[in-house]
Amino acid sequence: MELNIGIIGLGTVGSGVIESIEKNKNLFLKKYNIKINICGVSAKNKRKKRSFNINRYKWYKNPLDLINNPSIEIIVELIGGDSGLPLDIAIKTLTNKKNLITANKAMMAIHGKKLIDIAFKNSVNINYEASVAGGIPIINMLENSLLSDKVNLIYGILNGTSNYILTQMREKKISFDTALKEAQNLGFAELDPFDDISGNDAAYKLLLLSNLTFGLVSEIKDVYVEGITEIESIDLEMANKLGYSIILLGIAGIKNKLLQLRVHPCLVNNNSIIAKVKNELNTVIIEGDLTDKIVVVGKGAGKNPTASAVLSDIIGYRKIKKRNLLSNKKNTYLKIKKLTMADRKGKFYIRMSVVDSPGVLADITAFFKRQKISISTMFQLEKKYSKYVQLIFVTHLINEKQLILAIKKIEKLAKVKNKVKFIRIENSL
Ligand code: HSE
Repeated sequence: MELNIGIIGLGTVGSGVIESIEKNKNLFLKKYNIKINICGVSAKNKRKKRSFNINRYKWYKNPLDLINNPSIEIIVELIGGDSGLPLDIAIKTLTNKKNLITANKAMMAIHGKKLIDIAFKNSVNINYEASVAGGIPIINMLENSLLSDKVNLIYGILNGTSNYILTQMREKKISFDTALKEAQNLGFAELDPFDDISGNDAAYKLLLLSNLTFGLVSEIKDVYVEGITEIESIDLEMANKLGYSIILLGIAGIKNKLLQLRVHPCLVNNNSIIAKVKNELNTVIIEGDLTDKIVVVGKGAGKNPTASAVLSDIIGYRKIKKRNLLSNKKNTYLKIKKLTMADRKGKFYIRMSVVDSPGVLADITAFFKRQKISISTMFQLEKKYSKYVQLIFVTHLINEKQLILAIKKIEKLAKVKNKVKFIRIENSL
């Protein structure tokens, strides 16, 4: 069987897809009897230095012309971005009755339902395995495999760049900026790496996972998002001293029919599975009533793992009618109210910079007392970090609301310098 495809977007992932097709074409032929023909390619700049020979492929200056090529059955969109050209490409591809394969998490998170509806109307498919967790086949698993369980919790490490940065800062003691540069050089980061370190990239992925798992109930504005930009080496060091690692997690959970979607740095126990998932590895953990717990780990960023997901979509696109769960009606099986972060109950790591003088600690703890915040661990660093000494607190179980109120007061104390920093502890993950 021959598959005629067109590829739009020749960055890290697009180049990876072409290289992998060139490398594994005999495998595809022998194993699946499939010959993939790249009938045309398009990207912003033809002259850019690339890892494959662009002259082997028919170049289209205008990607919309590529979609008009009647011999092409599948368009692979690898530009990225939630609107503008990639969305035009997606809509035109589907209305032209061609199948769409994309790695575009932002577009699928925001316009997924609309695009899938257009695909249905035109009797074509839209596949987006590469949009979440790179090489981990999680979308296929949720759409076609894990169909029986009632799931109340799905969470994981969903951004390879952030995980790489935190791992490198912790283990190699390098700076945030150096680690970010490395992640960019290794091809993990988005075109604008702010999407990675701000938590936005993970938020789109979490939204897709949540809507696939719980039914289409949430929008991107429902996700609480906090990235890793405020994490300093000292926090990684202190967390480690307390037996924790700091990890950027995406968590979608339902408790008492309340759904909460959040992406933020968490302290997780050094002995947990999550703490072992390092560098650009991602993990997705699903807790269902029948399976109990499923854990998948794999490379969530980078050329080859992401190309692998795109290629699986290409090779498998005719396989079975997919259950396009993103096109379901709202609230498929649950009545869900959204929970805000202030309602979250948990333990917290708190760090503050203070002037080292008598009474400072008493003034601070008075506000903890007023908010009924009980402290389980507290220590002061002997050496100064910047100009001030550091106080570290770990709380017992409290409401985030209580902590915010206490911090507001504490930050007003003259001897407390800078913003008080807190990171949520996730002990049960
Ligand atoms: N920039 C993403 C990450 C990879 O670092 O996880 C593509 O989703």
